[in-house]
Formats: sequence, C-alpha cells, structure tokens
Amino acid sequence: MHVSTILFSLMAVAVSAKPVKYTIPSSLKAASASNCTLPGKYIVSNFTQYMNSEDGTKNTTSFHYEDPDTGISTNCSSDASSTPTGAAGNRWPCENPNVEFIYQTTNIAGLTVVEVACPGSKPQFEASDLVDLSVDCEDIDSATTCTQMGGPVNGEFDSLEPTPQSPPPSSRRRRAH
Ligand SMILES: *[C@@H]1O[C@H](CO)[C@@H](O)[C@H](O)[C@H]1NC(C)=O
Ligand SMILES: *[C@@H]1O[C@H](CO)[C@@H](O)[C@H](O)[C@H]1NC(C)=O
Ligand SMILES: *[C@@H]1O[C@H](CO)[C@@H](O)[C@H](O)[C@H]1NC(C)=O
Ligand SMILES: *[C@@H]1O[C@H](CO)[C@@H](O)[C@H](O)[C@H]1NC(C)=O
Repeated sequence: MHVSTILFSLMAVAVSAKPVKYTIPSSLKAASASNCTLPGKYIVSNFTQYMNSEDGTKNTTSFHYEDPDTGISTNCSSDASSTPTGAAGNRWPCENPNVEFIYQTTNIAGLTVVEVACPGSKPQFEASDLVDLSVDCEDIDSATTCTQMGGPVNGEFDSLEPTPQSPPPSSRRRRAH
C-alpha cells in the first residue's frame, strides 16, 4: 500500500468520527459512521436584508451558507417570488435543498439555519441553529438595508431533531373550512 493511500484512509475515518455537540440518534449512528457526515459546523457570510416600506415586493433576504464537513456551499435567499416550505410554512429553501432558513422578528427572532442530516435516511433528522449574527442597518428614503457586520460567522449545531412532517392533504383541507 502506498503511503498516500494510508494517509487518505486515516483522514476519511477522522472526518466521519468528528465530534458533534448533539446526541446522535441510534438510527443515524450506523449511517454516520459509514457513509455520511453529520452537520457539525457551518459558516454564514454576506447576510443582507433589504426592506422597502413602499414596495414590499422588493424585499429580499440573502446570505451564503457553507458546511465544510458535509461539503455544502450554497446561496440562500428569499424575495416576493419565493415559496416557503416546511410543515409550518415558515422556511425558505436555499439553492441546495438540504439547507433551509427561517428569518423572523418574533418568537425565535433572527436567522435560523437548518441542514438535513444524512439526506434520505429514515426517520429524517435535521440540524438547526440560531445564527449569532449582528447587522448594521442603513435607511435611505423608504428602504432599509441591513448587512452582516464583522465578517463571516462560524456556528456550530447543537440541536438535531426529526424533520417536522407536513400534515396530510386531507387534514389541510379540513383546517381551511
Ligand atoms: C448508508 O449506510 C446505511 C446504514 O449503514 C445504509 O442503510 C444506506 O443504504 C447507506 N447509503 C448509501 C448511499 O450507501
Ligand atoms: C461576499 O461578498 C463579497 C463582496 O461583496 C464577495 O467578494 C465574496 O465573494 C462573497 N462571498 C461569498 C461566499 O459569496
Ligand atoms: C417589506 O419590508 C417592510 C419594512 O420596511 C415591511 O413593512 C413590509 O411588510 C415588507 N413587505 C413584505 C411583502 O414582506
Ligand atoms: C452566490 O452569491 C455570490 C454573491 O452574490 C455570487 O458571487 C456567487 O456566484 C453565487 N453562487 C452561486 C452558485 O450562484
């Protein structure tokens, strides 16, 4: 065996055994030990929120999301043309659909990022975290633009929960009455 091959296998083992801050559910232990990397740390950069009080269709929220462990690097944004997802209809998908975000000013206020853990595993789990973000806002006429201060934020997931399931279509119809 070549030295480089040995080094590579050692590295592969080290990556999948990376410690995480949450308890790994037993159903994910086998998968995460062999063929998938659990979300651990993430980086949020270039967060920008544009709000227009006269023309709300111009409002946008965007940022860049990166998970160096799972190799995800994706842009996230929502605007008037975006369709929310998730069981509660309060999430916005990133370009990589395994990443979603929630941005709100009430309840758990701020930016929450959600990353699917071991996509395709059953039951499906997801890691989530409230991003420790500080923004600087500037008002120009009827518009407010808030941008991330202090460079990229390094975060670490400390929660892993089952992905909330959408109610079946029949119960949705009942609720509408
Ligand atoms: C990953 O591992 C799990 C458990 O060992 C297995 O059920 C699953 O089929 C594997 N997935 C792939 C893509 O190899
Ligand atoms: C963040 O924005 C800066 C300047 O606007 C740009 O140079 C950089 O590539 C962006 N980073 C990402 C990860 O999109
Ligand atoms: C756009 O942002 C403004 C705040 O400046 C807010 O009053 C308005 O409700 C927002 N509109 C939409 C469609 O989100
Ligand atoms: C993500 O956004 C950045 C900054 O707006 C841009 O430079 C980059 O091309 C985008 N990446 C993709 C894959 O769209």
